[in-house]
Amino acid sequence: MQIFSGSFKTVKIVGQHIISALSNHMLKKFNNHSRRQLSYLIRSHKESPDNFFKMMRTYVNKPSVKAIIDFLRCKSTFKAALDHINYNTTDNYLYEQFVYWINAYARKDTSAPLIDFFSGTQTLNSVCKDFIKFCFSQNIMLDKTKTLYSFNYHNQLSDDVVKKELLSISPKKTLHLLGFGLDTGDYEKSLADFLITQNKAQHVYLYGFDPYAAHGEGIHYLTEKQLKNTNLQFDIVIARWVLHHIPLKQRWSDFIRCINRCHSQAMVLIIEHGFINNKSVLPIEKKFYHVLNAFFDIVANIGLRPHYFMHSMPEIGKNFFIDYLKPEDFSMIKRNVSINNITQSIYNIGPNFPHQTICCMRTYK
Ligand SMILES: C[S@@+](CC[C@H](N)C(=O)[O-])C[C@H]1O[C@@H](n2cnc3c(N)ncnc32)[C@H](O)[C@@H]1O
Repeated sequence: MQIFSGSFKTVKIVGQHIISALSNHMLKKFNNHSRRQLSYLIRSHKESPDNFFKMMRTYVNKPSVKAIIDFLRCKSTFKAALDHINYNTTDNYLYEQFVYWINAYARKDTSAPLIDFFSGTQTLNSVCKDFIKFCFSQNIMLDKTKTLYSFNYHNQLSDDVVKKELLSISPKKTLHLLGFGLDTGDYEKSLADFLITQNKAQHVYLYGFDPYAAHGEGIHYLTEKQLKNTNLQFDIVIARWVLHHIPLKQRWSDFIRCINRCHSQAMVLIIEHGFINNKSVLPIEKKFYHVLNAFFDIVANIGLRPHYFMHSMPEIGKNFFIDYLKPEDFSMIKRNVSINNITQSIYNIGPNFPHQTICCMRTYK
């Protein structure tokens, strides 16, 4: 297994030389930064949750349930901390909405589930359900386009890896791509266009599996039963920001079945977040990272796909589930698929919060 850390454009040198390694987008931001922010940007070019914890410790240096709740209850301090952690949060619609909603939730009298989560008597999933109910009870409404645009930097980081991997596949006349938990499949469509323009295929057939999707045009959606019984074979399987939403009982069976349905020389791409490998991180800090990550995920999903929560009306958010993957889950997948010859490359790509990890698997039957 190969493990790569940091952005693809990362270089190990600091100072002036790093400028040549920055993308245009970053360069523009870079020029706008004050000297203090600039030095932080240089230090944090290898973006990871480690930087999140380093910075958080300057704001909550003795983490306790009370200190964390107090920190969340002070909107300006919390926003300032986020701006220090990620250079891209300033003027970012989604981060602003996230700060607003988490602060409102922490300040309400009944924020007991959050306190109970930190104290260990509530799961991440149950506090998330309570947060969802709170947001909808307060008539949350987000702008889809602005939410989508807020992900530009995340997408830029993941595209660097995903497209580099896709460029390494051998050309075929037609490719069969399955989006696992793809919703409308806009991302999968953009990758299909990329593969065609790069002469990797003349046509890409798009398939989808997602029980709560708003069906997108041009995608052949499969039910669970169809997925079990299909004779289709896939060349590419993509699960972006999905697996942590699938209840543990069914998470691996459905996904591993899809991998077993792959052609020889297929590619499986998993884009996930939430891994914390740093042993010095305290359990309460880990919980803090996970609850922030999950609430960010919820606010983003409300912005992008409110139907995901409305699907179970009158009970809002009934289908929503969250439990982050563990790093060892990737090796577990490899052990449990029925394909002997499979390689994995893992990329930790940032930003500092919420961080993304990509696992690219290649099958050789
Ligand atoms: C965060 S969204 C990601 C959507 C899309 N992959 C993207 O990158 O924009 C999570 C998706 O997982 C889907 N999902 C939830 N539970 C699922 C399950 N059991 N099996 C497959 N997909 C599921 C949801 O409907 C939702 O579309």
